[in-house]
Formats: sequence, C-alpha cells, structure tokens
Amino acid sequence: MDASEIRRVGVVGAGLMGSGIAEVVARAGAEVTFIEGSPDLVRAGRDRIERSLREAARRGKLSEADREAALARVTGADDLAALADHDLVVEAATEDPDAKRAIFARLGELTGDDVVLASNTSSIPIAHLAQASGRPAMVVGIHFFNPVPVMPLVEVIPAASTAPQTLALARAWAESLDKQVVVSKDEAGFIVNRVLIPFVNDAIRLLDDGVATREDIDAACRLGLGHPMGPLQLADLIGLDTVAAIGRVLADANGDERLGPPPLLVRMVAEGSLGRKSGEGFYPYG
Ligand code: CAA
Repeated sequence: MDASEIRRVGVVGAGLMGSGIAEVVARAGAEVTFIEGSPDLVRAGRDRIERSLREAARRGKLSEADREAALARVTGADDLAALADHDLVVEAATEDPDAKRAIFARLGELTGDDVVLASNTSSIPIAHLAQASGRPAMVVGIHFFNPVPVMPLVEVIPAASTAPQTLALARAWAESLDKQVVVSKDEAGFIVNRVLIPFVNDAIRLLDDGVATREDIDAACRLGLGHPMGPLQLADLIGLDTVAAIGRVLADANGDERLGPPPLLVRMVAEGSLGRKSGEGFYPYG
C-alpha cells in the first residue's frame, strides 16, 4: 500500500493526543474514526476536536470552509469493531502496557492483514505491543507531540519485527500530514522523552528541594535555554500522570530509579493534580 491510498484512518483514544491526531488526519483530507470507551467520552473527544479546529481557524491557520470539511470527516465510536475496514490505525490510549497490548490483540483480529497498526506510545517499546497483534511485521511506532496540530515532529519507531515496507509506509504517511520524521531505535522513551523526562523530573526535584520557585525554574529554562515553555509548565501541558508513567517505563527499562517519577510528582498524581486537563498542576488553570 502507498501512503496516498490511506483514505480511512482509525485512532484509538481521543484524549489530548488522540484528538490531536484525529484533527491533523482530518485536516489532511482523510476520513477518521476515533474510538473512546463510552458515548460520553466520544462526545468529549469530539468537543476537543471541535474546539481545537475553532482555535486554529481563529488563528488564521485554516478557512471556515476547511474547518467544517475537516470536522465532517471525523466520526466517533465506542467500539473498536468500527475500525474493521480502515486502512491504518493509530493507537493513542493511556500509557498502560497491558491496556495497549489488549488493544493490539483486538486490532490484530478485526483489521485486514495488510493494515498497518501504529502506536503513539510515548515510551513503551514497540516490540512489547507488536507480538500481541499476531502480525508483528505490520506494527510500528508513530509518535506525535503535543499539541499535535502545532508541533512539526513525528518519531517513527520500527521494532525488530517491523517489515521495511511498514517502516516506509509509516514515514511516508507521517510526511503526508506535513510532519518532519525522525527514526529512533525501539528503546524506551525513544529520542525526545529519553531526553525530556529526566529534565522535567530534575526540575520537579529542584522545586521540591526549595532551590527556586516554580516561576523562577520555568523562567530560567525559557530565558536561559530559549525553550518556549519552562519544564513545569510543559509537564502541566503533557499531563502529570503521563509524565509519571513515562518516567516509570524509563526507570524500569534502564534499571535506574533516577529516571523514575520523583516523590512530589507521584504525590500530585495521587491527589488528582494532573496539570491543565484537571485544572490544577504546578499552576492553577481556570
Ligand atoms: N491550532 C493551530 N495552530 C496553533 C494552535 C492551534 N490550536 N495553537 C497555537 N497555534 C500556533 C500559533 O498560531 C503560532 O503559530 P505561528 O508561529 O505560525 O504564528 C504557534 O502555534 C505558537 O503559538 P503562540 O505563539 O500563540 O504561543 P502559544 O502560547 O499559543 O503556543 C505552544 C503554545 C505551541 C504549546 C508553545 O508554548 C510550545 O511550543 N510549547 C512547547 C510544547 C512542547 O514542547 N511539546 C512537546 C511536549 S512532549 C510530547 O508531546 C511528547 C510526549 O510523548 C509526552
């Protein structure tokens, strides 16, 4: 299959990442079906996509007609069975290896043998998911960045079992979405999160140790490193539960607890302070 033949795309999960991926795919002209766990979550996913498209139109990134056309290409459903006749599926469910493996097992059964199954996992080795699908040659990592409509990067991750044609298709498809592709070996965290998460974790440790205020830690990294956001602001954007989950995967994979979530992060997640999405993280959100 050629990337231009991918006309119907499935996205599993419509949280921050899944809804962003669905939006970008619809804006590029393909039909998208996203899957969530219940009718209420399907509605919430669709609202997220609608809001983001409206914001993009407000910022002059797409016309009113293109906004409406993109939205008309998006369908939500609450059962993976709705993806049976799709050309490519991207899994963007929560960062839980067992949940992801169960999704890949079901996708392997209900999609066609020639359908590429991709995971947007932030850190879990693709090899762990590929075997569950029953056709590991067709499984690959396609990792987007948040906010998906804005960030130009996609990491493509072949597992040892990924066929060269699967890797080539993943790369060509991501490029057709106007993203720049980098390829990473199938090591926990790939490129960006292997660098980013220890950096964010150390910023959290600095805060917990009282070395500086949250504002000064973020200002230091914005102004001293030229980053668009400080690490604590970025953690709130990504979601503190996701930052903690990625840290756990990195620590386990490398046998190095310093890569894992620091105590302050673990406490905040346990208290439901998840960043922007919960209204409270290192900063309050209205
Ligand atoms: N749709 C389309 N375009 C949008 C948009 C939207 N919803 N929101 C913002 N933009 C565009 C703006 O129009 C602007 O584009 P131009 O430069 O062409 O004018 C650009 O994005 C920046 O916008 P602003 O200058 O208005 O600044 P902002 O505060 O809105 O930007 C931000 C927010 C883009 C998030 C910026 O702060 C940023 O880049 N932050 C860093 C984000 C980052 O590091 N993400 C990676 C997280 S790690 C990850 O995702 C991996 C993982 O697995 C955890």
